[in-house]
Amino acid sequence: MSRTTVGGVAVERDDAPARPAPVTAAETAAMRRALVLAARGPLGPNPRVGCVLLGPDGEVVGEGWHRGAGTAHAEVAALADARERGALAAGATAVVTLEPCDHTGRTGPCSVALLDAGVARVVVSVEDPNPLAAGGARRLRAAGVDVVTGVLADEGAAALGAWLPAVRRERPFVTLKLATTLDGRVAAADGTSRWITSDVARHHAHGLRAEVDAIAVGTGTALTDDPSLTARTVDGGLVERQPLRVVVGHRDVPAGARLHGPGGALVHVRTHDPVEVLRALHAREVRHLLVEGGPTLAAAFLAAGVVDEVHAYVAPVLLGAGPAAVADLGVRTLADAVRLRPVDVVPLGPDVLVVATPEPTQPTVEEH
Ligand SMILES: NC(=O)c1ccc[n+]([C@@H]2O[C@H](COP(=O)([O-])OP(=O)(O)OC[C@H]3O[C@@H](n4cnc5c(N)ncnc54)[C@H](OP(=O)(O)O)[C@@H]3O)[C@@H](O)[C@H]2O)c1
Repeated sequence: MSRTTVGGVAVERDDAPARPAPVTAAETAAMRRALVLAARGPLGPNPRVGCVLLGPDGEVVGEGWHRGAGTAHAEVAALADARERGALAAGATAVVTLEPCDHTGRTGPCSVALLDAGVARVVVSVEDPNPLAAGGARRLRAAGVDVVTGVLADEGAAALGAWLPAVRRERPFVTLKLATTLDGRVAAADGTSRWITSDVARHHAHGLRAEVDAIAVGTGTALTDDPSLTARTVDGGLVERQPLRVVVGHRDVPAGARLHGPGGALVHVRTHDPVEVLRALHAREVRHLLVEGGPTLAAAFLAAGVVDEVHAYVAPVLLGAGPAAVADLGVRTLADAVRLRPVDVVPLGPDVLVVATPEPTQPTVEEH
């Protein structure tokens, strides 16, 4: 509250921003459409964002989505679309899946573009967690634009995928992939591990490789298996966007290794510390890291508490000997087991994929 005088009379004025008007059915429908548009954007370091501009009667006057680094942001693309359609953005409502940015990067701030176009209201799904880009809603509100956030927030967060937790936590989202026998082994006693799972499961895993920004293995796997760590199509060709290939550990990768062959760039992080690996990859704008083992690296990431999701492909195969999927975690009694919460179970030919997330650490409750 502040005091001001109107006609010589002191009055109290409410300085808090006006409460935004309730979200209309047309705006919710536009947000669903914006989420569909967002999904057209490429994976990678930038968020996938969609925007729909609504005219005064709730009609769509422009649509846009972000097509990748260095190109127009969704809001600017939607404003351009409106211009092309001969529609006026002045007085329009911008419905956008992520808070408009407020910084000048490779493109100018979207908040300013929306203000310059005369947009009167902005409906946002997810607030921008990136401290560099955030502040768009604040600037718009300060300029008198009606801004509402959190519309279809769960769907908005899901559409942003690994980008959102990665940017929030300033480290890549980590998926640990295991391909194991029914008795939890990832190789036979002689070290052979090709192939434990079926073609169907392996093709599925290539789909996951194509979605992530980087794939990591320890030097043990790099030297034993000579993997190429590429994302491939069913017929064996390389998909267009290849993830970075990351090797963790001190030993060298031999010059003739497949890791030097066609595929993504090779990054060798000479450390045993998963946090250092994540720091190095965050600096390269990796949002989603797939850790493919072996057991030593898997255990190190789990012990460091930086695994966000486990994808375990389990084949109906028994070996009775050979390394387990995860090396010693220091668990000596069942009460200390790493418990996972299953989120999906997918039959894949003869195999099954279990997707699970580590339980958040339970606070210690003192017993009385
Ligand atoms: N079925 C599957 O899903 C699957 C997947 C991957 C591997 N495998 C199998 O796993 C076996 C290899 O197992 P592995 O445990 O040797 O592989 P690994 O985890 O890939 O590599 C272990 C090596 O990585 C380095 N390293 C990185 N971080 C470390 C840390 N925090 N602590 C200790 N060492 C660290 C060490 O080598 P430096 O001395 O070089 O630092 C270590 O010897 C192979 O038989 C392979 O076929 C199976």
